[in-house]
Amino acid sequence: MLKKIVQKTAILSVKKIMQNSMDNHLKIKLIDEEVVRNFNKEKSYLLYIHVPFCHTFCPYCSFHKYKYDEETATQYFKSLRIEMRKVKEEGFKFNSLYVGGGTTLINEKELIKTLELAKELFNIEDISCESDPNHIEANSLKNFQGLIKRISVGVQSFDDNILQKVSRSTKFGSSKVVQEKILAMNGILPITNIDLIFNFPTETDEILLNDLECAKNLGVNQITTYPLMSTDMTSNAITKAFNSKNNSKEYHFYNLIKESLKDYHNNNSWSFSKEETSLNDEYVTQHNEYIGIGSGAFSFINDSLYINAFDLAQYAELVDKRPHAIIATSTFELKERIQYQFLLWLFNGLVDIKKFDQTFNVSLRKILKQELYMLEKANAIQISNDNIYPTDFGKYLTLVMMKEFYSGMDKVRALFREKNVATVK
Ligand SMILES: C[S@@+](CC[C@H](N)C(=O)[O-])C[C@H]1O[C@@H](n2cnc3c(N)ncnc32)[C@H](O)[C@@H]1O
Ligand code: SF4
Repeated sequence: MLKKIVQKTAILSVKKIMQNSMDNHLKIKLIDEEVVRNFNKEKSYLLYIHVPFCHTFCPYCSFHKYKYDEETATQYFKSLRIEMRKVKEEGFKFNSLYVGGGTTLINEKELIKTLELAKELFNIEDISCESDPNHIEANSLKNFQGLIKRISVGVQSFDDNILQKVSRSTKFGSSKVVQEKILAMNGILPITNIDLIFNFPTETDEILLNDLECAKNLGVNQITTYPLMSTDMTSNAITKAFNSKNNSKEYHFYNLIKESLKDYHNNNSWSFSKEETSLNDEYVTQHNEYIGIGSGAFSFINDSLYINAFDLAQYAELVDKRPHAIIATSTFELKERIQYQFLLWLFNGLVDIKKFDQTFNVSLRKILKQELYMLEKANAIQISNDNIYPTDFGKYLTLVMMKEFYSGMDKVRALFREKNVATVK
């Protein structure tokens, strides 16, 4: 009983802390001049490329996107390649590339050109790419062999009723059709991941367990289970789609997921792999900072967040005229950065205190003394031999924190949203 109360209080507190810090610490400054980014020229960063196009929109999704139009997209990919050459000139080195959307494989020819350029300019070891279930035909994916290492297919649910409610069954096919598509493509690229969303308003234990069974039976290497994130931009559309507001079973569902995927390796609190991947704390350390290129992309380097132009015409114009397409920044105090990095490391399953201190030139035990005390009291972390591990409850807590973090970033997108950017009403 007492344990339940402590856990409930801890969950509410971290939600509040995250919401407050996203509201109060994100001081967005609009800029109308060239900025010079301070970064480590010796280090290899993660490069993120945003492809903001979809044929149709899903009610829960607030990612930055426009309706697809071939001519506009072709022009956009050209701008992306110009921006990529400019970050090269700026001196950045990258060893990993993540392509997110939108629908990244929506224009295969242009994407291939863009990925090939990235490989030519940088020493890229792995490329990860998101896709919807309509762009994963075996023959198309064969064109990406040797280029894309990990493909992540957005499935969201294998329940026909849910797929219908989120307007995905007519677009991508019934649960059976989506399963057949995945069976036909699994193995063509080295790693296949399935994205699921849990905690939809009308979801039951049976629906969730069936989603997980289907994903396991397809034999893919990875399964990612995102908690439904409902933000100011999407909450009305979600309520309308389900005729119901929300589901209060998130923690219960997370425990069902952990149990169902207990034989899988935890890459982070919401990602599970059949085999342990090369994801180690070195990888995590390197990828806490990244450069995002493309319209509406975020970069996080050193103490600052940089936000690229959202509007496609403005993005193209800036890319032509300046060394970058940045329109706004936000700078963080040391304590805020340390809290953010600590959250990321914990979310990824391990905080090696010595490594953390070395990386950020701080004493974690001193600077986050109060936070560590509270997390230990709530039984969210265990500290042994200078390593901090999240407990099972701690993993859920970091998932809640990440969810709030992403929802906070959504507020940034909302700030810059324009009339011609997709909105689902
Ligand atoms: C940007 S989407 C791109 C995926 C691809 N376009 C598709 O529809 O399959 C990447 C993933 O984010 C997740 N996602 C999007 N909106 C979400 C939300 N509101 N809550 C939780 N996860 C969400 C989904 O699992 C999705 O597969
Ligand atoms: S989830 Fe739907 S709206 Fe969002 S990027 Fe994928 S297809 Fe587009």
